[in-house]
Amino acid sequence: MKKLVYTAFVAFWASIFTLVSVQALSDHKKEPSDEESLGTYTLEEVAEHDSLDDCWMAIEGKVYDFSNYIPEHPTPPSVMKPWCGEEATEGMRTKGYGRDHSPAAWEMMEDYLVGRLKEE
Ligand code: HEM
Repeated sequence: MKKLVYTAFVAFWASIFTLVSVQALSDHKKEPSDEESLGTYTLEEVAEHDSLDDCWMAIEGKVYDFSNYIPEHPTPPSVMKPWCGEEATEGMRTKGYGRDHSPAAWEMMEDYLVGRLKEE
C-alpha cells in the first residue's frame, strides 16, 4: 500500500513537472504575429526575394513572405508574380483591376508576416 501511495505521489509530481516544462518551452516559441520578435527590412532587402518560390512583399509598412501562399491564391501565380520583391500595397488594394481584397484576405496576411518595412 505504501508503495502504491509513493508511486502515485511520484507520478503526480512527474506529470506536473512535464506540464510546467512544456508550458515554459512553448513560451519561448514566439508567434509570428508577435510583432516585437520580427525584423526590420529595407526595400532593397525585400527586392532580393522576387521569385515565385521566394516571394516577399512590402504592404502598408509591413513585410510578408508569401512564398507558401502563392500556390493557394485563387489565381494563376502569374497574377502575384509581378509584386514579388516589391512595395505591393497597390496590388493588394486593387487586385490589378481596382477592387480591394476582402477583409478575410487582409486577415490571412498576418500568417505570412516577417517584419516591418524600414522607413527610409
Ligand atoms: C499583391 C498582389 C496580389 C494581387 C495582384 C492579387 C490579385 C487577386 C485577384 C485578381 C483575385 C481574383 C479576383 C477577385 O477575387 O476579385 C484575388 C483574389 C483573392 N486574393 Fe489576391 N492578390 C494579391 C495578393 C494576395 C494576398 C497577399 C492574399 C492573402 C494572403 C490574397 C488573397 C486573396 C483572396 C482570399 C482572394 C479571394 C477574394 C477576396 O477575398 O478578396 N491575395 N487576388
